[in-house]
Amino acid sequence: MKYDLIIKNGTIVTATNSYKADLAVKDEKIVAISEKIEEDAKKIVDAEGKLVLPGAIDSHTHLAMPFGGTVSSDTYESGTRGGACGGVTTVFDYPVQRKGTSIMELINEKKSILEKEACIDYASHVCITDLNNGEIIDEMETAVKEGITSFKVFMVYKKEGMMTDDATFVKLLKRAKEIGGLINVHAENPDLIDLKVEEFLKEGKTSAWYHYLSRPEFVEAEADKRAVHWAKNLQAPLMIVHMADKEGLNAAIDAKLDGATIFLETCPQYLEFTSDVYKREDGRNFVCSPPMKGKESQDAIWQAVQNGMIDTIATDHCPFQSYEKDWGKDDFTKIPNGLAGIENLYPYMLDAANSGKITFERAVELCSTNPARIYGCTQKGELAVGKDADIVIYDKDKEFTVTIDKMHTKCDHTVWEGKTFKGYPVQTYLRGNLIYDNEEFVGKPGMGKFVKREPQKY
Ligand code: URP
Ligand code: ZN
Ligand code: ZN
Repeated sequence: MKYDLIIKNGTIVTATNSYKADLAVKDEKIVAISEKIEEDAKKIVDAEGKLVLPGAIDSHTHLAMPFGGTVSSDTYESGTRGGACGGVTTVFDYPVQRKGTSIMELINEKKSILEKEACIDYASHVCITDLNNGEIIDEMETAVKEGITSFKVFMVYKKEGMMTDDATFVKLLKRAKEIGGLINVHAENPDLIDLKVEEFLKEGKTSAWYHYLSRPEFVEAEADKRAVHWAKNLQAPLMIVHMADKEGLNAAIDAKLDGATIFLETCPQYLEFTSDVYKREDGRNFVCSPPMKGKESQDAIWQAVQNGMIDTIATDHCPFQSYEKDWGKDDFTKIPNGLAGIENLYPYMLDAANSGKITFERAVELCSTNPARIYGCTQKGELAVGKDADIVIYDKDKEFTVTIDKMHTKCDHTVWEGKTFKGYPVQTYLRGNLIYDNEEFVGKPGMGKFVKREPQKY
């Protein structure tokens, strides 16, 4: 048998074009793409009338993360199972360094869990909270050599002990630049947040709406601008994650147009919802940081998605169960921050393509090709000969309404409840192996492999 798998008669979508072709897989790699492949294969799939897409890369998730007085409710197994069922074939996790400890130990600890549990391929951005008298600066180079080429800093979460001060941030930006790495940043101003929170609690303003009002547009914009300032002046590459406000977005776009190497990520929740959701009775279920903003910011972000200024879409998947969200019924500061989303990422962006808001090529670029390129996943992000056979078959005509019973993660609710997608993934292949088939997970924990990434000259 010449091939392991042939997908016939589908329309292959790349970041730049779409065309009808057959695709053949051998030993987990794409080995041929051509108008007609007539040879034999162990398995032949007819994708007539369907789109054939590269698997999505969710480059922002927090699985089993200790946070908000609890642990995010998806394990590495359940989170990646959900990803598989939404067409995600590679996931990036954000393990957080405990102050005073080694990042290589953390990386190895997580790897040993992931290799048993992950249902899709995996990589990590390491969140650095402490330089350990400079030790971490050396360890970063070891991490890059081992294929972990990106690191995260939080400009917030001061009280939680996760915040990085400006001096550390600058040191990390410089170091990452030297070693072909990339710094990702969560940009919000912690002191402004604390000031507002104190004010609201004193006044008895405790509903989820005050989560938004304690972190409004200018709180994110100030930090975005500070982050942009450092990156621009140090000529260091920077990724601003979960971008959600217009003023910060515009500052970053100006810097990009001025030649700074700044990448921008946003998330489906900022494209779909505005701060109005915090006025809802179940508003606490939408509490995440940064919070959803007003319509002006939402429109600006959509525009940047459409005009190429946003580089990647990822989910910031960090779910908490309803009973945990309920801790904050009478005090928004007690609500664990984060939402489930890994299973909804590709369906959401492909629905946007199906309804003409963006092209299918742009959806592929944002959800697969760009994250692979920016984060150095050289084997991923594209349907091309030599790449990993991470493939999604997508039915443009299948309607799917999200409801928690149909989701494959562990969380007991979803902010996407009731959302109808026009078009839906019907199959997901991880390196040529079928892991999702018509609403059913058919893979296994442990199938996922570590993605060794290449350092980049940004
Ligand atoms: O609310 C969020 N986003 N929780 C996860 C941690 C983070 O800030 O990314
Ligand atoms: Zn964040
Ligand atoms: Zn996050």
